[in-house]
Amino acid sequence: MTAPAPTPEPADSSAQPQAVLVTGGNRGIGLAIARAFAEDGHDVVVTHRSGEPPEGLRGVRCEVTDSESVDAAFTEAEQLLGRPVQVLVANAGITRDGLLMRMSDEDFEAVVDTNLAGAFRCARRAVKGMIRARAGRIILVSSVVGLLGSAGQTNYAASKAGLVGLARSITRELGGRGITANVVAPGFVRTEMTDELSEDLQKTYLSQIPAGRFATPEEVARVVRFLAGPEAAYISGAVIPVDGGLGMGH
Ligand SMILES: NC(=O)c1ccc[n+]([C@@H]2O[C@H](COP(=O)([O-])OP(=O)(O)OC[C@H]3O[C@@H](n4cnc5c(N)ncnc54)[C@H](OP(=O)(O)O)[C@@H]3O)[C@@H](O)[C@H]2O)c1
Repeated sequence: MTAPAPTPEPADSSAQPQAVLVTGGNRGIGLAIARAFAEDGHDVVVTHRSGEPPEGLRGVRCEVTDSESVDAAFTEAEQLLGRPVQVLVANAGITRDGLLMRMSDEDFEAVVDTNLAGAFRCARRAVKGMIRARAGRIILVSSVVGLLGSAGQTNYAASKAGLVGLARSITRELGGRGITANVVAPGFVRTEMTDELSEDLQKTYLSQIPAGRFATPEEVARVVRFLAGPEAAYISGAVIPVDGGLGMGH
């Protein structure tokens, strides 16, 4: 029996420098992601809400809870990049922890509006250009707690779990147009967000992580960069953990 003819490789423009937009790229994990892309020679713009963009990177102001701000930020970014965004990294996120019985509507809504609806607003704007180009990469920064759950983080975990449904639905809707959508689920990463945790809580978390340490922002950045690269062209709707084994089995 003869083997079936191999499927021809689609033309893959992602080997070229890509036009990348990273939301919340002025600090923490987003900044590490933006720097990783820039180091590889890609054209990068970060979004920031206040102050100046980080040194060496171009920035546009964006409030992800506001559709008009998202639209304006993309338009400005596309002018800076000289072409539509080809890689969207939806990274902007917040926490407002509290026990379920005491959680206010405002704290629940603020977290879902930023983390989940913010990613939706950015993805909706990004796919306009991606559909025309018949190519695009969307990478949503979730968290291990999206699938693991976390006491005191019902709002945050719900918003991060929602990103999985978002990425998988984008994949089903637009996979045939050369667009991939994936979720990266970091465990505990050393940033301002985790530095705010009490020492006791940090010790408790460390004891649960098989790797015995927190991740560096650069370790998350490398996985995001891989998902945007030519070697990840056939990965879509996936949830990639970067958590030292913390979320295994989920
Ligand atoms: N750190 C961790 O251990 C960890 C673990 C798993 C997942 N994550 C996720 O990774 C992402 C980055 O986390 P991080 O630790 O780097 O956080 P961070 O240092 O607190 O940075 C958060 C970023 O999001 C931006 N942002 C927040 N709300 C926004 C809004 N409404 N509009 C636009 N930008 C907004 C912030 O902008 P400003 O500077 O203007 O506030 C900042 O750039 C988040 O989605 C987080 O949930 C983090």
